[in-house]
Amino acid sequence: MSRYWSAVVHGLTPYVPGEQPKLPNLVKLNTNENPYGPSPRALEALCGEVGENLRLYPDPSADRLRQAVADFYGITPQQAFVGNGSDEVLAHTFQALLKHDAPLLFPDISYSFYPVYCGLYGIDYQTVALGESFEICIEDYLRPNGGIIFPNPNAPTGIALPLAEIERLLESNMDSVVVVDEAYVDFGAESAVALVGRYPQLLVVHTLSKSRSLAGLRVGYAIGHPDLIDALNRVKDSFNSYPLDRCAIAAAAAAIEDRSYFEATCAKVIATRTSLVKELEALGLEVLPSAANFVFARHAQRDGAELTAKLRERSIIVRHFRNPARIAPFMRITVGTDEQCEALVAALKEILTA
Ligand SMILES: Cc1ncc(COP(=O)(O)O)c(C=O)c1O
Repeated sequence: MSRYWSAVVHGLTPYVPGEQPKLPNLVKLNTNENPYGPSPRALEALCGEVGENLRLYPDPSADRLRQAVADFYGITPQQAFVGNGSDEVLAHTFQALLKHDAPLLFPDISYSFYPVYCGLYGIDYQTVALGESFEICIEDYLRPNGGIIFPNPNAPTGIALPLAEIERLLESNMDSVVVVDEAYVDFGAESAVALVGRYPQLLVVHTLSKSRSLAGLRVGYAIGHPDLIDALNRVKDSFNSYPLDRCAIAAAAAAIEDRSYFEATCAKVIATRTSLVKELEALGLEVLPSAANFVFARHAQRDGAELTAKLRERSIIVRHFRNPARIAPFMRITVGTDEQCEALVAALKEILTA
């Protein structure tokens, strides 16, 4: 607290990111990073930018990267916006497209940055309760709203909503923007990018932090009607004209162009997830059906916070959410390599049988 703060700062409740521990030799399964490195082509492109040209500003509209996104999805570059991590893309989206008189709607159990952006930008919102099995129920969103946003697959549950359900929502919600945050979609859900050409109110947000192993580079993008993209550019150019540096633009474009590396690493994560779920279930845990690179699991008799703490004593870091109370029994476990997941399962076995 300081008397020098703006009034808005006094009222903020900032997001708390997952821990990035400085300790060596951890099995780090707490922030949904990819256990495999970035595409070698991305690393090569990154190194190619390190030199004399760094004295020059980067391309403010990151044309090369937007073209790579357009080629990957079969859209036009005018339908693509890029930013410094999808968190920045989301922040601009909240300000540019989701601040209206009627309340913004999002699930009560979801990405915990959403209410933070609402606080920052003074956006009125209502949370919508997930169903009994932690699923998003479209019917509950069919009411007056100033916009709708949800992750698909949802975080931290990992549960995916079928594309047909998203289309049903779009059909009955033409007058406000619907944002689908597809941070984890490449690990097994259906992308709503296929619907962007037909629904001018749809914006789909992606990140390179998960399926393209580039969390450290900070790149995200949004795909939607050029009018929506225009709004994002207006906010971006009123905030920071150069959100992506030269290295980020080059490496991100190369990562997107390397489709076969992307497909191979996603397939490995999905295969490991399948065996991890089996192992966790064999230990008596309930695991929600996951289409993401993490699983959300609970034990009927053991507390999520206690299990998380016991794993930590064994140098295995997973994420626990205290709020809302309904998810307190769960642990969110990132799918790591086979070896990391085996270490997790062995540690849990020891904890549960002690
Ligand atoms: C649902 C969801 N959206 C967006 C993000 C932000 O990703 P980034 O800012 O790394 O692109 C995350 C990060 O964990 C997430 O879980």
